[in-house]
Amino acid sequence: MLLSVQNLHKTFGSVAALSGVEFALNAGEFVSVIGPSGAGKTTLMRVINGAVAPDAGEVLLSGASLTAARGRAKRRLQAGIGTVYQDFALVETVSCRQNVLTACLPDMAFFPAVCGAYGKDRRDEAAALLDRVGLSDKTDAPVKTLSGGQKQRVSIARALMRRPDLLLADEPVASLDPVTGQQILALLRDIQQTRGLTVLMNSHNVEFSKIFSDRIIGLASGQVVFDGPPAALTDAVLAAIYGSPEAQP
Ligand SMILES: Nc1ncnc2c1ncn2[C@@H]1O[C@H](COP(=O)(O)OP(=O)(O)OP(=O)(O)O)[C@@H](O)[C@H]1O
Ligand SMILES: [Mg+2]
Repeated sequence: MLLSVQNLHKTFGSVAALSGVEFALNAGEFVSVIGPSGAGKTTLMRVINGAVAPDAGEVLLSGASLTAARGRAKRRLQAGIGTVYQDFALVETVSCRQNVLTACLPDMAFFPAVCGAYGKDRRDEAAALLDRVGLSDKTDAPVKTLSGGQKQRVSIARALMRRPDLLLADEPVASLDPVTGQQILALLRDIQQTRGLTVLMNSHNVEFSKIFSDRIIGLASGQVVFDGPPAALTDAVLAAIYGSPEAQP
């Protein structure tokens, strides 16, 4: 088991964003988390990647507790997790390769890091990853000259740069048109299958989640209300996740 999420609770003021969330991911799975706005999907990802501490519960990565880890031990576990965001979170004015290389900064000593002295091996690996995501001709182009779909490809390459076991993707195609979005998900699926990567994706697009996922988790009001294969996602289950049919995406 690659990831185990146990009895997670997180409240913000009076809002219970996560109330007893539990599930496990096997290595190599592609799992989508669906659910209405405010269901707790982003909070769940932020707790899994260690950006937010839960009030209770535990996140285990290959059996090691990320929740209990501190300092260097926590950073080492976090290095096994790559994250891709809806808004790409790239530095627009610098090149695609420079953006991919920023993934290495946490592993580097202070002076090489501040000088941007990444070394030939890392620079070659960044170029190879950009080639893998279909951007070999954009390696040295500033990110601001790219389309949205191309930017998301750069952020996928950046997430892969630290060779993660687990890739988290928080609505990775929500700001893209449907055709481009489908191409990005096909790329993620292909990378997941060829590298044996495990992917956990938050999604508002139920149809895409059904096409690309091995398994779907339905979150509603901070609780898991469905966990099963896409084929088991019936209208009744969707109603349980999203409430009334009108509220369904
Ligand atoms: N930093 C925060 N401070 C206060 N409340 C927060 C914070 N982060 C999340 N929340 C609240 O927790 C709940 C869950 O938010 P979250 O962003 O996890 O939902 P989501 O499922 O990702 O929604 P969306 O689909 O709109 O992205 C919401 O009610 C939200 O307002
Ligand atoms: Mg969200």
